[in-house]
Amino acid sequence: MRLKDKVSLVTGASRGIGRAIATTFAREGSDVAVNYYQNKAKAEEVANEILAMGRRAVTIQADVMDKERVGEMVGEVIKEFGKIDVLVNNAGIVWKPSKLLETSEEEWDRVLGVNLLGTYHCIQASAPHMIERGYGKIINISSLAGIGTTFLEQAAYGPSKAAVINLTKRLAYELGKYNINVNAIAPGLVRTEILSSGMSEAEVERSFQEVAKLAALGRVGEPQDVANAALFLASDESSFITGQVLVVDGGRFNFLSHSV
Ligand SMILES: NC(=O)c1ccc[n+]([C@@H]2O[C@H](COP(=O)([O-])OP(=O)(O)OC[C@H]3O[C@@H](n4cnc5c(N)ncnc54)[C@H](OP(=O)(O)O)[C@@H]3O)[C@@H](O)[C@H]2O)c1
Repeated sequence: MRLKDKVSLVTGASRGIGRAIATTFAREGSDVAVNYYQNKAKAEEVANEILAMGRRAVTIQADVMDKERVGEMVGEVIKEFGKIDVLVNNAGIVWKPSKLLETSEEEWDRVLGVNLLGTYHCIQASAPHMIERGYGKIINISSLAGIGTTFLEQAAYGPSKAAVINLTKRLAYELGKYNINVNAIAPGLVRTEILSSGMSEAEVERSFQEVAKLAALGRVGEPQDVANAALFLASDESSFITGQVLVVDGGRFNFLSHSV
């Protein structure tokens, strides 16, 4: 019960890593607001799982790129639960693969819009409340692609995740005096549906197998691996840690050239 009586808002919690974070936090005592974009039924499944654990849960539709809607979402969480202790900026996208020098304006706008601007919107809307309460944990899900380089045929993704790390460090510096910890997690490849846009099932499986060989631990990540790291950063066990990037990648040593 490391998050007993806490309230968490997890963006992109209908599936994948966000889902694992939401259910892990609930298991540790937190009530959870489950944000989703398009997948209402999946988000409701997650909320029902949380309710079955005896915690409170709400699902909230919002495109994190939409500043006004994010403001409403944060208001709805505070109205429902009275506070937000933990914000996890997990919502993120990749784009269908395109040649690095042929990346469209649409791709840049949307990938940076969701991954970077979306993270900023959620922090911008939640931080004043955290400042007022003198307590908060903000966890931004970046990527190994934000530390090394972006990956194959994804020009915008790596830069969006690198910018999230930069924002994390600056906000940690600015918000520390209010007892708000801001940290990032940089996962390596994790077994979710994120690669499915634009890649066939066989190609995705091949990527998983290739990347597993590049990790010291010989496997790709599972959503729970990232959720465990997020739990540590959300708990008071990490209260003296801020502005850090926790890499969760099974020991990868090919940051600059990695294909996925
Ligand atoms: N999987 C990996 O290998 C990996 C590695 C490094 C970093 N990451 C990062 O980890 C995070 C989660 O990735 P994942 O693999 O779990 O992805 P995923 O399985 O594709 O799930 C993405 C989640 O984000 C939500 N979402 C997408 N666009 C959104 C928007 N505009 N507003 C709000 N929510 C939105 C989706 O909601 P709907 O289902 O409702 O559409 C879904 O819940 C992302 O930030 C990703 O970049 C993933």
